[in-house]
Parts: sequence; structure tokens; C-alpha cells
Amino acid sequence: MSVLTQIKEAQVSNPVERLMAATAADMERVNALILDRARSHVDMVPELARYLIDSGGKRLRPMLTVAAALLFGRGRGNEINFAAAVEFMHNATLLHDDVVDESDMRRGQRAARMIWGNKASILVGDFLLGQAFMMMVETGDIDALGVLSAASAVMAEGEVFQLAKTGDLTTTQADYSEVIRAKTAVLFEAACEVGAMSGGADAEGRKALAAYGLELGNAFQLVDDALDYGGQSGTLGKNVGDDLREGKMTLPVILALEEAGESERALIASALGNAEATDLEVHQVVAIFNRYDTLNRTLAKAGGHARAAIAALAPLPEGEMKTILMDVVEYSVSRAS
Ligand code: IPE
Ligand code: IPE
Ligand code: MG
Ligand code: MG
Repeated sequence: MSVLTQIKEAQVSNPVERLMAATAADMERVNALILDRARSHVDMVPELARYLIDSGGKRLRPMLTVAAALLFGRGRGNEINFAAAVEFMHNATLLHDDVVDESDMRRGQRAARMIWGNKASILVGDFLLGQAFMMMVETGDIDALGVLSAASAVMAEGEVFQLAKTGDLTTTQADYSEVIRAKTAVLFEAACEVGAMSGGADAEGRKALAAYGLELGNAFQLVDDALDYGGQSGTLGKNVGDDLREGKMTLPVILALEEAGESERALIASALGNAEATDLEVHQVVAIFNRYDTLNRTLAKAGGHARAAIAALAPLPEGEMKTILMDVVEYSVSRAS
């Protein structure tokens, strides 16, 4: 069935739903592989892993891997392994990230660490990472293995850099850009790049997809960071204001601190990194953000990356999948969860 027919059958207009429809057949195989590789004779491993895996993540990164492969006409089927590996890397990072951030909620339910504890979350995250690398090795594609290994190291580095900057009022916009590139955008970049490689892309196509993924990932994290203050916890699946209570130096805070007067600065500083900060305090900080329009400015920056993502695809021939990928960028800057 052609991609177009699948889309028509699904009668969907939302870009992510169109991406889902266009990748459905391959994603079925990816999901089967994900479930298979989450198995272990140690009961706690699949219990915890399945709890997270079954909890309704968007599967955006593996869909991008599959879509990138389909864009170039599909290779030797390596994209299935790479897509599953990318989702495992992502889930491993989330397990670790919730421990580091002391987050209670993930994907609209209690974070795994709230049920099994921090220790189990870290160890199962390591298991998923190991399984991800096994799936990459099975493809025998050493180039793609290099792309994903580098991404794995850079992501960890990004999380450490962010940790080092926690509550640091001198954090610059450049520091922040480096954090989001490393912790988030690089995985989007790698997901798209190895997809393109699996699909048989030439050097130019591979570069275009990598650039698309990187820019999309940057836009995605910028929106996530704006939503942390402006979203609804119900649709977000996470708590509003968490970044502030965790002392996370995201762009809305950095921009506000650049312009804040002394009393405003003191208010931000007292709430930042204070796990006990009340909703009222979060509210007061958001009022300062609104004064300097920092949430909209954060979204505007996301818009810039979104335009760059779309521009990255310009050299590629027109087609259904290219249109979907361009429209998905729209979703990344207009999403509410
Ligand atoms: C969450 O990513 C982590 C960030 C980079 C903000 P997603 O929003 O893609 O998470 P799931 O997989 O859909 O839950
Ligand atoms: C994104 O970081 C998760 C990773 C890329 C490791 P955040 O800490 O901002 O993401 P959420 O808010 O927990 O999803
Ligand atoms: Mg977090
Ligand atoms: Mg966040």
C-alpha cells in the first residue's frame, strides 16, 4: 500500500498522525522488537521496562528513523533495529533523567522510580542501553553504530553539563544552547541520520536528514522548556514548574534574569532550586517571565530552529514523506504535551 493510500485511509490531517500512518507497517515490527528485547529472566527488568514502554510515549524518534529510511527508499531493513535502539536509548535516558531530576511523573503516570526506586531505575536504564547497542551491532553497520554511540556519549555529557549548571544564575544562553543540543537534539539528529543511512541515502541526503533532526530536536526541547511553565500538567504528563523547583537553567529563566531588577532577581533566585517552592511562588516567577515575554521569546527561538529544520530538507526531491517530515516540524512547535 502506498504511503498516500495509507494516509487517505486513516483520514488524518494532524502531521504526527500522518507520520504514524506512513510508518505504521514498519513501526509494528519496531514495537515487536522493542517488546522482545525488553525481556529478561530477572522479573524486575521487564516489569519496570514494560511499565515505561507501555505508558504511551509518542515514539517520535523511532518514527523519524523509519520515515528517514522510507524517504530514501528503504535499505536492508536495518532501520527496524535502529529505530528500536533509538527508542531504547531514549527510554534509558528518561529513566536516568527522572532519577537525576527527582521527577515524580512521567508520561502521565508515576515515574518508574516512584514504584521501583532510584536504584532499579538506573540499572534497568543501563539494561536498555546495553540492549540498544546489541541491536545496533546486529546490523553490522559500523558507520551507523558510530553515529549512535557518539550520540549516547554526548547525551550523557549534556545531562552532566546541565547538572553542573543547576541553580547557576550566571548560565548564559550559549550554555543553554549547548545543553539542549547535547541532551536532546543530538538523539533526534542521530535517529534521522541512521534512518537515512538505512534507506541508502547519499552523503548529501544523510547530511540533510542529520541537520533536519538536529534542528527539530532543538525546537522540540525549547518548546518543552516553555511548556514546563506554560503548559497544563494534565496534558503535559509532568508537573508544571518542575524545572524551576529543580533549579534547571532553561531559556525562560535565563532571559528573565538578563532583564530582571533586583527584587525580581531575588524572587527568581529564592524559588529556583527550591523543591518546596509553592504554586504561588511559581506563579510569581511566571509573572516576571510574562513581564519580559520570555516564554514567547523561547517559543520564537524554537520557531527559528523549526524553519531551519524545514530548510534542511529543501535540497531533497519533493514527495509525500518529505511533506510529512516538514509538517511534523509544525507539530514540534505547536504541541501542548
Ligand atoms: C521527552 O521526550 C524528553 C524530552 C526531550 C523533552 P518526549 O516528549 O519525546 O517523550 P515521550 O517519549 O513522548 O514520552
Ligand atoms: C530531557 O530533559 C530528557 C533528556 C533528553 C535526557 P528534561 O529533564 O528537560 O526532560 P523532562 O522534562 O524530564 O521530560
Ligand atoms: Mg527531567
Ligand atoms: Mg523539561
